[in-house]
Amino acid sequence: MAFETPGAIDLHVHLREPGSNTAETIESGTRAALLGGFVLVADMPNNPGAPVHSLDRLIAKHEIAERGAWIPTAFYAGAQPETYEPGNLTKMAAHAIGLKLYGDPTTGNDNTYEAAQFREIVEEWHRAAPEKPIMLHPGTENLEDFIGLVAQDTEHPLHVCHVSNAGQVASAQAARSRDLQVTSGVTPHHVLKTSFDVHTQGAFAEMKPPLVHQDEAEHLMSLLAAGGIDVVETDFAPHTVAAKLEAEHAGGHCFGVPGIEHVLPLLFNQAAKGRISIDRLIDATSTRPAEILGAKLSGTTKVGWDDTLYRIGDDDVEAGCGWSPYAGMLALGKVDYVAIGGMPVRAPTGRPEIVAMRGHQI
Ligand code: NCD
Ligand code: ZN
Ligand code: ZN
Repeated sequence: MAFETPGAIDLHVHLREPGSNTAETIESGTRAALLGGFVLVADMPNNPGAPVHSLDRLIAKHEIAERGAWIPTAFYAGAQPETYEPGNLTKMAAHAIGLKLYGDPTTGNDNTYEAAQFREIVEEWHRAAPEKPIMLHPGTENLEDFIGLVAQDTEHPLHVCHVSNAGQVASAQAARSRDLQVTSGVTPHHVLKTSFDVHTQGAFAEMKPPLVHQDEAEHLMSLLAAGGIDVVETDFAPHTVAAKLEAEHAGGHCFGVPGIEHVLPLLFNQAAKGRISIDRLIDATSTRPAEILGAKLSGTTKVGWDDTLYRIGDDDVEAGCGWSPYAGMLALGKVDYVAIGGMPVRAPTGRPEIVAMRGHQI
């Protein structure tokens, strides 16, 4: 039986363009997203070699997306304490969907921080864009302090990216029970893969935060299913096969995994198995991310799926990086059609226009 969904929104992708990571482009990444049932993606600022810490970098991304993105693509501004220049965020605010802060080492950032180092950054962003969320890559020790700085002291909406343990979820929930604006997201890999994969897949299963033990992964899935975690965010973070192999050979690090085109079908299969309801899944992949981003999808934006059950193989990989961490796993549903803003397109044959965003027309 074919089925229809409202069109998914991914508030956490890394499309890599421009920059020194050539695994993906805005064109190839958004095409994979469209073929995976997403109608809007929001791209992070940590482009290796070209971090989006200034207006010209942000505008450059918009120009590339204008020419080549398959779906509406929004961009985050970025700022880190060591490169912070007062005034830049104010200039960027109108062109960004939110602000992303890295509180710990990952791709494009080598440093650890204390939340207090971000105070001026947070305050400038709050003055310039009081409603646009701050997305946080938390460190292992600083989440509570960031909640204090952003959500409590500054009264600004904070989204905690890629939670990977129950303690982080509890921190976000406790803040919310104090009426602070704090949301959280979990990645598909933290609920569908486990730390054991690192033994067999090495660098191809390496990301920040690291995969967790099966018990924790199952617990995260139950928290997502119960609504304790707000959204699913793919953290689509492509690296070339060569870069992953080099990290493996050299004993170095290469954090991040792709697979955006497989995420919804994998989760539909989890819904079919009863691990999450379809209503909660749509809430976590469409409704809640739209609320967090201040995006408004037209009611006529729909994705039609067939109900093929399949094992993800090489032929199913659409992303430019050419591999998926979900190869071999069971998935349910292939995109049949996408109608954005009421305009039917047989994916990926059109580049339709959609949505209005809070203070930001795309
Ligand atoms: C991301 C990347 O490669 O850009 N990597 C990752 O392991 N998640 C950065 C990030 O989201 O931390
Ligand atoms: Zn991160
Ligand atoms: Zn990320």
